[in-house]
Amino acid sequence: MRVNIAGVELQSPVIAASGTFGYGVEFEEIVSLEKIGAFVTKGLSLEPMAGNPSPRIIETAAGMMNAIGLQNMGVRAFVEEKLPKALAIRGAVVFANVFGFTVEECVEVIRVLNDAPGIAMYELNASCPNTSHGGMVFGTDPSLLYELVSFCKGVSRRPLMVKLSPNVTNIGYMARVAEDAGADAVSLVNTFLALSIDIETGKPRIANVTAGLSGPAIKPIAVRMVHETSKSVRIPVVGMGGIVRAEDAVEFMMAGATAVQVGTASYADPRAVENIANGLKKWCASHGLGEVRSLTGSALM
Ligand SMILES: Cc1cc2nc3c(=O)[nH]c(=O)nc-3n(C[C@H](O)[C@H](O)[C@H](O)COP(=O)(O)O)c2cc1C
Repeated sequence: MRVNIAGVELQSPVIAASGTFGYGVEFEEIVSLEKIGAFVTKGLSLEPMAGNPSPRIIETAAGMMNAIGLQNMGVRAFVEEKLPKALAIRGAVVFANVFGFTVEECVEVIRVLNDAPGIAMYELNASCPNTSHGGMVFGTDPSLLYELVSFCKGVSRRPLMVKLSPNVTNIGYMARVAEDAGADAVSLVNTFLALSIDIETGKPRIANVTAGLSGPAIKPIAVRMVHETSKSVRIPVVGMGGIVRAEDAVEFMMAGATAVQVGTASYADPRAVENIANGLKKWCASHGLGEVRSLTGSALM
């Protein structure tokens, strides 16, 4: 079940996605971290952030919309309070998700993380749709994305994975921009910009008005984007978007993903990531597959 992303060996290709797995420690009693590949922290900013006003999460027909707005304790508190506890958990592999409103802030977050022990990789969020600047603004403008990634790569002492926005017309091109700027891997997709209206009040159902759509509804679009991306770059592609079963993970890998992340599914079942990792192992065994990595890009297209 082992896979390698930019030199980081994982015991499973199934990873818990950012924003859906807290800082890892919250899941200590629920998920056996030895069974999954890694977990990605909630997005970490330089200063603590309160996020957007409520309501900021709703359920949709086949998924959910969120406009959390990057609520987090700030990178320094994470390093001091949460990281040591997370690293003490058996089997924990920590990917730190980095967020900033400006290039300088992202660089500063990475500098703080560089001095902390034990983090396996950084995932740079260039794709959050729920903030007025930073996030998706970086991920939808090629020259801003290039600048962000090259400056972050310049200071990063760990492999840098760039999380891409799906709210673009040519995801393969954006992935290539990230690769050219020095990204060691790309992950996709973040959530799709969406809107839901309460027809009785005529008001948006989310206080922020727009929000990011995730879950099974987005899966076929995400699979298409992972496929396009894997054809455009040489660096590893980590796929996500609506994975709820092991078979979904297989599909993403066949489309070109080296590993996958599971997000919204953890809201329906907090054990989802572990169940999917176990299920993937069984799927490989029942299909006579010696190595899970042979699934990557194996779709006949
Ligand atoms: C409530 C919630 C919070 C999220 N917070 C973050 C975040 O802080 N940073 C980030 O890069 N992605 C964040 N995401 C995006 C997920 O990591 C993932 O990219 C997206 O939800 C698609 O995968 P899924 O359909 O399996 O959820 C968040 C998603 C949800 C549902």
